[in-house]
Amino acid sequence: MWRSLLLLLVAVSPALLQLQDYKDGRRGAELHDKKHFCSWKCLLFTLQWPGAFCQSLDQQELCWIPQSVNKWTIHGLWPRKAWSCCKCWPMFESDVQELDAELKEHWPSLLKDQPSFHFWRQEWEKHGVCAACVEGMNSPLRYFQICLKLRRQFDIQRLLDDAGVTPSCERPYKLVELRQVLDPHLGDKHEIQCVTDQQGREVWFQVKVPLSHNLTVGCDHAPDGGPAPPPGPAWNSSHGHPCPPQAPLYYFPVDHQQPQRPCG
Ligand SMILES: *[C@@H]1O[C@H](CO)[C@@H](O)[C@H](O)[C@H]1NC(C)=O
Ligand SMILES: *[C@@H]1O[C@H](CO)[C@@H](O)[C@H](O)[C@H]1NC(C)=O
Repeated sequence: MWRSLLLLLVAVSPALLQLQDYKDGRRGAELHDKKHFCSWKCLLFTLQWPGAFCQSLDQQELCWIPQSVNKWTIHGLWPRKAWSCCKCWPMFESDVQELDAELKEHWPSLLKDQPSFHFWRQEWEKHGVCAACVEGMNSPLRYFQICLKLRRQFDIQRLLDDAGVTPSCERPYKLVELRQVLDPHLGDKHEIQCVTDQQGREVWFQVKVPLSHNLTVGCDHAPDGGPAPPPGPAWNSSHGHPCPPQAPLYYFPVDHQQPQRPCG
């Protein structure tokens, strides 16, 4: 499987020198991971709520919510594995030019110093290159097309709106209420994730939908092992966790002026 990915890369990638590094074993950590690249069984399609994105960061001053952003946005489509893929398949803006407008709308960067394209490229390098083991996702264009298609399929904004689950600083929700709305569409294996804000409130910020190789909802395989990728600068993984079933859960409104403190 790795061999065919490698051949594919040789065929399409201008970065032959980098590949040479791989073959020669110069890129220690990444080389160590290569045997895993195509061994994943499940994907996680992850959507994030901009109203609580800032709360998920250690350095909250790094976030901003552009005026045009007021709906659930895409975080990524991740082969479920513990390692980062590689920078061995470079992605260029021209690769996804035809999707640019749609990606900017549905997959914006919410970090001040990160252009949206850099966010997409980072997701491609961390996750997309491994997803490219599957026919239908084996190029940046195809991978991002699939992601946009999944967002249309899992339109949780509409599901929540239709069910009257609206952002509020005053009215908390129970996990069971959210699941009642989402289960029929996302399957009963999806994860509703919270962060704890500075006032100790459980704040809903993310949803992860498990998918099989063939993109059907749900996936029963255990996650693949492997070394964990190093955490990013702003992200502290101890913040995100499954929302507790008993606690009141806050679905914060998007506040473009004060994204760090939408609810005081
Ligand atoms: C998709 O994959 C799952 C798990 O491997 C399998 O159970 C299911 O039948 C497949 N569905 C289709 C439409 O191929
Ligand atoms: C991550 O967050 C936890 C809990 O808020 C905190 O104790 C820890 O120091 C943070 N780690 C880093 C690297 O900032």
